[in-house]
Amino acid sequence: MKFLGIELDEDKIPRHVGIIMDGNGRWAQKRGLPRIFGHKAGAKTVKLITETSVKLGIKCLSLFAFSTENWQRPKDEIKNLFKLLRNYIKKEENNLLKNNIKVLISGDISKLDEVTRNMLKKLEEKLKNNTGLILNLCINYSGRSEIINAVNKILNSGIKKIDEEKFEKFLYTKDLPELDFLIRTSGELRISNFMLWQLAYTELYFTKTLWPDFTPEEFVLAIKDFQNRERRFGRIPE
Ligand code: IPE
Ligand code: IPE
Ligand code: MG
Repeated sequence: MKFLGIELDEDKIPRHVGIIMDGNGRWAQKRGLPRIFGHKAGAKTVKLITETSVKLGIKCLSLFAFSTENWQRPKDEIKNLFKLLRNYIKKEENNLLKNNIKVLISGDISKLDEVTRNMLKKLEEKLKNNTGLILNLCINYSGRSEIINAVNKILNSGIKKIDEEKFEKFLYTKDLPELDFLIRTSGELRISNFMLWQLAYTELYFTKTLWPDFTPEEFVLAIKDFQNRERRFGRIPE
């Protein structure tokens, strides 16, 4: 199939794509604007990349929106980020419903203010019968806390012996396909505590493009790059 003029193999679309959406602050700084303008521009990219994911037939899109470490930012920036999230929900919920998108929230949202938390829960509820793209919003998420959270749940359940398959049932991603492909924008070459368990055999893609500048075309080119890789999972070439 051809998409935005780029030839893609329909049978090799990654089922689950993760994105570390980074570079909003630098995008704004480059323009002499306060950081929040970068986050606002980044929210537009979220909309575009989500819509593109639907068109490509990706099953799940995991977006790293706020990390447990991001609480260390200035209070004002944090407040504005959650305000932006609430505006995104208000503006987008009907589009999400129409586009058959289901939302999953990964992360400890008990630490969010009540209004935002309730909006997120309502959004999940409103979209729960949709069967298309799963939009996994990672909010107050970190890979280590997800693993520790799973361990505590296992300890409380009384289970005495665990294997990989059982362990995964305690992660936020329990109902999601394997994470096939991870994109990080903004040129940083690190994982920043994202999906530590799930990344074991994920293909990684780093681009210098700042998140607000990341386009559907670049997204499709990244997926083309993914399609040209040989995933060996420890085996020898076929
Ligand atoms: C990513 O952009 C958004 C969040 C982490 C919430 P940044 O805000 O980290 O932008 P930079 O890295 O400072 O440019
Ligand atoms: C990672 O970006 C977290 C999100 C995109 C939500 P950061 O900007 O917080 O990561 P570091 O601090 O550069 O590692
Ligand atoms: Mg950053």
